[in-house]
Amino acid sequence: MTTRVLTGVTTTGIPHLGNYAGAIRPAIRASQQADVDAFFFMADYHALIKCDDPERVAISRRAIAATWLACGLDVEKVTFYRQSDIPEIPELSWMLGCVTGKGLMNRAHAYKASVDKNEAAGVEPDDGVTMGLFSYPVLMAADILMFNAHKVPVGRDQVQHLEMARDIAKSFNHLYGRGKELFVLPEVQVEEDVALLPGLDGRKMSKSYDNTIPLFEGGAKALKAAIARIVTDSKGPGESKDPDDSHLTALYKAFATPEQTQAFRQQLIDGMAWGEAKDALHQLLEAMIAPMRDRYEALMARPQDIEDLLQVGARKARAYATPFIHELKAAVGLRDPLSVAVSKTEAKARKARFVNFRDEDGTFRFRLQDAAGQELFLSRSYADPKQAGVAIKALQTAAFAEVAKQDGQELQIHCAGEEVARVSADLRDAVAAALDSMRD
Ligand code: TRP
Repeated sequence: MTTRVLTGVTTTGIPHLGNYAGAIRPAIRASQQADVDAFFFMADYHALIKCDDPERVAISRRAIAATWLACGLDVEKVTFYRQSDIPEIPELSWMLGCVTGKGLMNRAHAYKASVDKNEAAGVEPDDGVTMGLFSYPVLMAADILMFNAHKVPVGRDQVQHLEMARDIAKSFNHLYGRGKELFVLPEVQVEEDVALLPGLDGRKMSKSYDNTIPLFEGGAKALKAAIARIVTDSKGPGESKDPDDSHLTALYKAFATPEQTQAFRQQLIDGMAWGEAKDALHQLLEAMIAPMRDRYEALMARPQDIEDLLQVGARKARAYATPFIHELKAAVGLRDPLSVAVSKTEAKARKARFVNFRDEDGTFRFRLQDAAGQELFLSRSYADPKQAGVAIKALQTAAFAEVAKQDGQELQIHCAGEEVARVSADLRDAVAAALDSMRD
């Protein structure tokens, strides 16, 4: 059985080396396995929650797409798309929101952190909290459940969101599944060791710590300059260094073979200068990054090429999402009455027909309904039910032109010289079709 693996990247930044080691490289490797059906996307609706700078969102979307493509993502094998190109995702998000307890969202770490901060600052608990932030996990659940992903590789900070996606899926399955699992329950996958790539100062490499090493941004020069800024201790050249005490070793190890790492460690123990160690790291990284950087720059210079590839992805994603959203909408009762016959009784009701009834004042009337059960017209009232029956019979047998007379914006329905009903002329075709269908 193939495993569907899905993950998303919020489009607010430009990928750095930590993103490459922690997310991009493992995801692309996983996607190359024969039994994996990978879905990777840019969470650009999620970006609007964190960022109200349109320029930044636009640049980030392009840079992230170019980065993943340059790093070897194969659009033939992987479904690679932008969240905002799949309108079914926000549609599903709404439906999921309707089965999600507000209490569940109150417990989300990101929301709670904002509330805690506000309380500490002595302002309203929800100060500055948007509905986007509050319902962030619902949209994320829609991203995942829309494609029935089995596995979702994410960072540790996203684990709670995956638990919420499972809870939401369970509620929906329970309420609307009628014994069938509409949604697969997704499993979280945390990349344990690579998630810890250190930054220039030894803390986790992260934009918010301003300690990142760029991947492609700024070219070869920027890579070299960042490596030169890696913090080391003050041991001089010739002095023996503890390789386990330096994040330089951790950085080297993340991209080197075990043999290379072994040699690097030994050289540090033997007194290699920090400057030389940085040169060694630079050589290692530059050799790996240079060919990818060339592809990145070529793609960034041709936005239309990126766009074409993303449209291929959007079509592949929607080939799954469009029929599935129809099924989900039908499950909650949002059925297309003309195309979906769900039961035998409904199938029978799917013909135009007359319905007669006794009105509150004791007189008799009938209405004409179209195949979807919509009323086309309501007749005048008859004192005698037989008279109403005669009128119905006549309408069913006479040619349309004989019974219908258009008067400006109105269509008058006649029978034996008497007016039966008046409808808007807009309904002319619908009335004609309904009457025709009864004549056969
Ligand atoms: N919230 C994720 C992050 O910040 C990005 C994301 C959005 C995502 N939707 C997703 C990840 C669906 C996995 C699956 O990292």
